[in-house]
Amino acid sequence: MPRHAELRTLIPSDRIQARVAEMGREIAADYAGPLRLIAILKGACFFLSDLARAVDRDVSLDFMGIASYGRNKTSSGEVRVTKDLDSGIAGLDVLVVEDIVDTGITLTYLCHVLEQRKPRSLRIATLLDKPSRRIKPVDVAYVGFQIPDEFVVGYGLDYGEQYRNLRDICVLVEGPPEGVLR
Ligand code: PRP
Repeated sequence: MPRHAELRTLIPSDRIQARVAEMGREIAADYAGPLRLIAILKGACFFLSDLARAVDRDVSLDFMGIASYGRNKTSSGEVRVTKDLDSGIAGLDVLVVEDIVDTGITLTYLCHVLEQRKPRSLRIATLLDKPSRRIKPVDVAYVGFQIPDEFVVGYGLDYGEQYRNLRDICVLVEGPPEGVLR
């Protein structure tokens, strides 16, 4: 049960944990050597933390900060890096870890930036996918759950920086005010 009356549980924490464990096993089976996990701040931190422990491989972690402008149906896709990686990724197997793929604008930009650094391989793992909102096609290798076009919070996802620490993924019952998108 969510702590807040304005929330409805969409994916309870036990289902999240079971799916993350499954994804971890799948990822471990797909890579023979070490893997660099790159989480996109801030929402992906909770997923990264659970996923990294579910991948029975030699993993190392890094973080990237991204700011998007006007992520909506008419967006030009303007994105910028607010925090870059601490170390290079040339020659490494890299897995970008996201909490949600929505329009696909963030990951399209990010993959373009990361490809230029010549990783050995570059794939994406996302906990949530909202395919109905896609503007830019993104090739996502690992998807936890496909969800409908509802505004979700919890397990890293926020509304105005609130709710990130909920264990469940929940829907805001009345939805966000107009103009708030994800
Ligand atoms: C969310 C999410 C992705 C992005 C996906 O980040 O973590 O980075 O939106 O949306 P897109 O596919 O439409 O580009 P958000 O901007 O909410 O930042 P946060 O993780 O710091 O909350």
